[in-house]
Amino acid sequence: MAEAKEEQIWEALKGVRFPGMSRDIVSFGFVRAVAVEGATAHVALEVATRDQAAVATLRAESERAVAAVPGVERVVVDLKASTPPSREESAQQAIARNPELIPEVAAVIAVASGKGGVGKSTVAANLAIALARVGRRVGLLDVDIYGPSVPTMLGIHDRPVVVGGKIRPFERYGVKAMSLGFILDDDTPVIWRGPMVMRAIEQMLGDVDWGALDVMVLDLPPGTGDAQLTVTQKIAVSGAVIVTTPQDVALIDARKGLQMFRKVDVPVLGIVENMSTFVCPHCGTETHVFRHGGGERTARELGVPFLGGIPLDPAIAEGGDSGRPIVVEDPDGPHGAAFARVAEAVLEALAVTARE
Ligand SMILES: Nc1ncnc2c1ncn2[C@@H]1O[C@H](COP(=O)(O)OP(=O)(O)OP(=O)(O)O)[C@@H](O)[C@H]1O
Ligand SMILES: [Mg+2]
Repeated sequence: MAEAKEEQIWEALKGVRFPGMSRDIVSFGFVRAVAVEGATAHVALEVATRDQAAVATLRAESERAVAAVPGVERVVVDLKASTPPSREESAQQAIARNPELIPEVAAVIAVASGKGGVGKSTVAANLAIALARVGRRVGLLDVDIYGPSVPTMLGIHDRPVVVGGKIRPFERYGVKAMSLGFILDDDTPVIWRGPMVMRAIEQMLGDVDWGALDVMVLDLPPGTGDAQLTVTQKIAVSGAVIVTTPQDVALIDARKGLQMFRKVDVPVLGIVENMSTFVCPHCGTETHVFRHGGGERTARELGVPFLGGIPLDPAIAEGGDSGRPIVVEDPDGPHGAAFARVAEAVLEALAVTARE
């Protein structure tokens, strides 16, 4: 019988779901490597969960799925299971790390990228609204002091008010929002902003009346500079969502972003591939603008879960420019649905890492 192809093994593993979750173990990023040697298939799995029963089930189901591939007679599963801190432990750590800053925020998600202009702010704003639409209490904090986008994206042009010594966040589309852009004038010299980063970010966290939130989404500036480090030092970030586009250069930068978060022990929840395909508004044909292969392959190359792809569409840019993001403008359309899937994947990724 012909030797099985690695691609067939990957396909088979896509049929294995994480117990109790809707997604498969490939898109969760648990499959780290696959190799075929004659009739033997090797599969390397890396799972971060506290649920031991789920780990045993995953091993058995992966073995069964791969054994069913024609040409495979033996399956060797190399499984590494690590136990992340429990939800309680992470909450305690979070509070220990920020007794004053944001004690009532259950999870903080940093939306980041190595490269500028890939759509972090677009993803952050739409993700925040999509999370609010499924009933989460959500905050959106724009930490990009060089180019704040949240005011424009959410169509907020007022100045914030101070009540009882705290800055009151804006509320738009079910999301509490704050941005340095609300406070800084457009003509505040950038040279002032650098040294202000640390203090400004602390203020945006601690002096704003966020109240109790299930999730705070942070829109980070591009790269791996002061702002990113300040955030990870000042508060316990539950996970990072890396935004990338499908070009090779963007991938190199995404990798840098990943490494930064790994170095500071912030779990990477996965990547969102933005501008992944172009859907022709006239004929509906889907074109891979940059390169073919899709976000899944990208995630595999980067060794992280794939949280979903967002097509390239002028309607998404217009949504951001007009202050009515696409998930508000057209929640049930294809792009609204794409963001809803990303939101669901983010919630699942958070749930799996904190699962008992
Ligand atoms: N999927 C998309 N389709 C079409 N346009 C998009 C898409 N995503 C983002 N854009 C547009 O691309 C531009 C850059 O997006 P955005 O500001 O979200 O990127 P960013 O990564 O936050 O940039 P920066 O690094 O400057 O903070 C914006 O004009 C935005 O409207
Ligand atoms: Mg931005």
